[in-house]
Amino acid sequence: MSTSPLFTPFQLGPLTLPNRFVMPAMQRGMCEGGAPTQALAEYYARRAEGGCSLIIGESAAIDHPSATVQPTAAWLTEKTADAWKTCVDAVGEAGGAMLLQLWHEGAMRSDGDALSPSGLAYPGKESGRAATLDELADIREGFVRSAKVAQQVGAAGVEVHAAHGYMLDQFLWAGSNRRTDGYGGDDIAHRARFPAEIVAAIRDACGPDFVIALRLSQWKEVDYEARIAETPAELATLVTILRDAGVDVLHASTRRFWEPQWAGDTRNLAGWAKALGDMPVITVGSVGLDTDVMDTFTQDAEPGARVAEAIEDLERMIEAGECDLVAVGRALIGDPDFVKKVEARDHGAIRTFRRADLGQLEWDLSVLEEAQQAQG
Ligand SMILES: Cc1cc2nc3c(=O)[nH]c(=O)nc-3n(C[C@H](O)[C@H](O)[C@H](O)COP(=O)(O)O)c2cc1C
Repeated sequence: MSTSPLFTPFQLGPLTLPNRFVMPAMQRGMCEGGAPTQALAEYYARRAEGGCSLIIGESAAIDHPSATVQPTAAWLTEKTADAWKTCVDAVGEAGGAMLLQLWHEGAMRSDGDALSPSGLAYPGKESGRAATLDELADIREGFVRSAKVAQQVGAAGVEVHAAHGYMLDQFLWAGSNRRTDGYGGDDIAHRARFPAEIVAAIRDACGPDFVIALRLSQWKEVDYEARIAETPAELATLVTILRDAGVDVLHASTRRFWEPQWAGDTRNLAGWAKALGDMPVITVGSVGLDTDVMDTFTQDAEPGARVAEAIEDLERMIEAGECDLVAVGRALIGDPDFVKKVEARDHGAIRTFRRADLGQLEWDLSVLEEAQQAQG
């Protein structure tokens, strides 16, 4: 028996998780016509079998035509429900629980027809147009319909994707949300309004025992230095609004989990969110590896292993009350038994993730590539 705090149970709403490990949402290009294939179901189940207690499905477009035009994207609709049920059942049989991630790409959609808060992917980059209030109401209902499909197929809950520069993060970020109708502008409470309305509508439709996670990040794929909350006071306002709307757990996405959020304090974004929101949080970012996810996507460097140091840091963070759960992305792609091997303290046996493990991602990265060039 491990004595590590990472291998103690955690109560997340109605779910009793046997340990603290979560697999975060990762697009794998294993869907056909928006529906997960059998191979994707087996891939998820294999990570649950390897000891990961909570699996979050890859970002799935919500039931609204504006959600994405990415050809290999997953969708969560009545049409793809059976395929998602296969995934949820397979994970359940392997001893895990599953949340499905709800996603709308907003102005990251690159075909000129995007809907978003202000028609901006980032300051200076126009993409499509601002959604009207009626369109926002339709999109909110699309989130709810997809959440209900998740509930119907037996998922324990959903994760609302409000991170990394996609639609709901475009709302949270002042740089991409210049609305003047109470849903945007310089006040974080206004920018949080639409994501909070979506969470509240899902809570109303799916009831109290349906887990709602919400993923947020300061950084965007299109701007690593971006901030949705410039100060702890702004973060406090944001997390309180989200918690009161019905979020059970915040997934605070960082590129490297060991980096402090603000100078003069060692806590990362998850640590701050937990302290300010008094609610469960998931930390994430390069667990087990020495390079971050964006370097994996945009550079040639192969990551190296960084396991013992990470585990020591994470154990300290859990003991200090700075996080509750830990998401492991690429390292779990690299080795489905990562969690079991950590539990056995057999770090040397862990197979390190390689960039080639991702295969060929058929993804239109044009908005991202333009932003990367602008960032230098
Ligand atoms: C191939 C790949 C696909 C990803 N797709 C998504 C996604 O669909 N939704 C999301 O919120 N994050 C996505 N991410 C980000 C991961 O969830 C995670 O935050 C990131 O990889 C950092 O964790 P890691 O350093 O442990 O890999 C993706 C990452 C990778 C490597």
